Amino acid sequence: MIALVCDHGGFELMKSVRAHLDSRGCAYKDFGTFAPDSCDYPTVAKPAVAAIAAGECENGIFICGTGIGISIAANRSSDIRAALCTDTFMAEMARAHNDANVLVLGGRVVSDDDAIKIVDKFLDTGFSGEDRHKKRIELLSHVITRSH
Ligand code: RB5
Repeated sequence: MIALVCDHGGFELMKSVRAHLDSRGCAYKDFGTFAPDSCDYPTVAKPAVAAIAAGECENGIFICGTGIGISIAANRSSDIRAALCTDTFMAEMARAHNDANVLVLGGRVVSDDDAIKIVDKFLDTGFSGEDRHKKRIELLSHVITRSH
């Protein structure tokens, strides 16, 4: 099950992504936003992040205008490895090297056609499982700091 979420900046692109997932027969849970009105990416992202953290969804496709804000929001969860990708090479590496569980797209950055190619590469690429990549992913938990 793929968690889908976007803010208003990703609203149009998400329509194309959803239609593509339908054509592929992929199961997804849509966390909105369900109207093109302005909304806040941390707020809309939170339930989708929670669904992945809870194991209700195994991965996600998150979209905002640039992809930056919703990436930052998603990566606040230690259960999320969100990768903002602008081409298929990044999507392939995000899966093979980073075992990313969330693909992030910028609705004002990539074309619909490119986004679909990026989605396909992300969904069709597995984690390499190589020791050096496993180790680096484990080391991510060492980066978490608390200043207050
Ligand atoms: C919304 O205008 C825009 O700021 C948002 O979609 C995203 O790009 C933020 O990073």
